[in-house]
Amino acid sequence: MISKLVEITKTAGEILKDGFNKDFLIELKGSKSNLVTEIDKKSEKEIIDFVSKNFPSHSILAEESGFEKKSSEYTWVIDPLDGTTNFAHGLPIFSVSIGLTKGNEIIAGAVYDVMNNALFIAEKKGGAEMNGKIIHVSDNEDIEKSVLATGFPYDIRENPNSAIERFNKFILRARAVRRLGCASIDFCYVALGVFDGYWEVHLHPWDICAGKLLVEEAGGIVTNFENEKIDIYSKQILASNNKVHNEMLKILSLS
Ligand code: IPD
Ligand code: CA
Ligand code: CA
Repeated sequence: MISKLVEITKTAGEILKDGFNKDFLIELKGSKSNLVTEIDKKSEKEIIDFVSKNFPSHSILAEESGFEKKSSEYTWVIDPLDGTTNFAHGLPIFSVSIGLTKGNEIIAGAVYDVMNNALFIAEKKGGAEMNGKIIHVSDNEDIEKSVLATGFPYDIRENPNSAIERFNKFILRARAVRRLGCASIDFCYVALGVFDGYWEVHLHPWDICAGKLLVEEAGGIVTNFENEKIDIYSKQILASNNKVHNEMLKILSLS
């Protein structure tokens, strides 16, 4: 399954690379800032067709087409283009992110940072790697020296979730806070030790699945803002190198 996961993640990545900066259709989904392009759909179709052909009994949870329940306990959790706004505006920070779950457990994940040609893979209890090299979270313990990342939900106007207050607190404490616009790459950069931590107030299963396992297998931790264990259906996520986790939790608590 891992080799198939890697194969389709790369194939879908090539679809994104071929489509980038070309003419493609852009539509709005729900809120006025949530876009979907023709390329999101093309990538998703390729992935779903591949999974259905190779693993016909496996369930599929995909961002643009929803949940297709099948008989197996395996589910492929698919973000066919993470970073759609970047992609649509010509900013080369986007990925394909695919996680594989067995029951409630994430057993494998792959994220392809397409324009950097960086392929991140994690297997439960098998470690995390980037382009074949083992990766680890950072060992920085000091929030004042930390470089952190966050993102903002599309529906922030309707559901602010104190995202701006939390961001304001972090920029006064951390060395720097970045907003890449691609949740899966935020997770990967925590796994790689580039970011010491990453939080977001409202994510979706396809944003979380592969990235969560990558951070954990690279020695980091992923919880909600109450420091509780989470599954892929959690909205809040705090991913870190473990060492700045408590300080980040205090900042997130808003007290
Ligand atoms: C979004 C991106 C963004 C994050 C949003 C996600 P999409 O995913 O990962 O960084 O802040 O919460 O929804 O829509 O580009 O797949
Ligand atoms: Ca996404
Ligand atoms: Ca997406």
